[in-house]
Amino acid sequence: MNLPSHGSNPQHLFKSLGLSLPEKYIDFSANINPLGPPPALKEKWNDFYREITVYPDPFAEKLRKKIADKEQISAQSILIGNGGAELITLVARFLSGKKVVVVEPSFSEYEKAGRANDCEIQYHQLLEPHFELSMEQILPSLTNAGALFLCNPNNPTGIQYSVSTVISIIQECEKQNCFVVLDEAFYDFLVNYESYIPYINKFSNLIIIRSMTKMFAIPGLRLGYLAAAPALIAEISRLQPHWSINSIALLAGELCLQNEEYIKETQVYISEERERLSTFFKRNNFVMTSSQVNFYLLRDSNQKEQNKLFEFLLLKGIIPRHTFNFPGLEGNWLRFAIKSKDENSKLMEVLLEWRQLH
Ligand SMILES: Cc1ncc(COP(=O)(O)O)c(C=O)c1O
Repeated sequence: MNLPSHGSNPQHLFKSLGLSLPEKYIDFSANINPLGPPPALKEKWNDFYREITVYPDPFAEKLRKKIADKEQISAQSILIGNGGAELITLVARFLSGKKVVVVEPSFSEYEKAGRANDCEIQYHQLLEPHFELSMEQILPSLTNAGALFLCNPNNPTGIQYSVSTVISIIQECEKQNCFVVLDEAFYDFLVNYESYIPYINKFSNLIIIRSMTKMFAIPGLRLGYLAAAPALIAEISRLQPHWSINSIALLAGELCLQNEEYIKETQVYISEERERLSTFFKRNNFVMTSSQVNFYLLRDSNQKEQNKLFEFLLLKGIIPRHTFNFPGLEGNWLRFAIKSKDENSKLMEVLLEWRQLH
């Protein structure tokens, strides 16, 4: 079975399983803001059209300045990328040939990009069901490591690690000349998130990756940024193709940054829906990870393996993200995005049907 390594594009999943995509389905496999893009984006869309006849600013100066002002750091500390995915690739190129530790289970692109750049990949495995991160346990893996990839809040578990643990890991890595690549693709779904960006001025080994495609529901546009000490940004940016980010993405990014209220609205919506789902799961004997964001892992505690549940859901037009390619999960959980109220209710309805049978 050669299942796709990412969520979204469900046609590939169905093809790999030899099934035909149902006419009606709900895709829970992509972790995108269910409220959609900020409405202002649609209003401005026609104005953006004019920009396609000129080359985009290769240095993305306007957007960099806006992010720098918001984060209160210098614009030289920022590199805009064609999605977080491009930035992961650039960082992996920068780390070519080094030993790279990946805290697992996590986003599969760290390993893929590392391997494509001849890095030696070592897993630091967190254990289910709590997936706790501990300084003492990670320490032995850091010997001779050139970098550590840590996703916070983590994809696929949705779990946020403790600030003191993350800071002590960054400190220890600095002592050992090891970069910490902290992927914060989902940071803005957290209520009261304590940002690590101010620490880039303190720790020269810290590289932060952010995506703008999740919160602003623009994965088709591709936009993200890196924050790190200016010297590091200068080195990594040399590896980026010229004009890597298109003009529409740049303009959309500027506009999205003005939508603070939209972020708050999303956070409230997600917390309420997560609570509603969590109550249902507890009542019906499903285990959900203690996610703080817009997706979560789920397993049926009555079942040893989750394959049958996965198939049942697919046949009902409910598409979760499988977890076969997450080290340590091996298909024993399913990941779901938090969607609209009706879609989440539909999921619960189908899970109740399943519960009556199993
Ligand atoms: C943890 C994490 N980082 C980065 C990305 C890349 O996001 P994008 O390239 O859409 O910005 C993803 C996408 O799923 C992700 O889950």
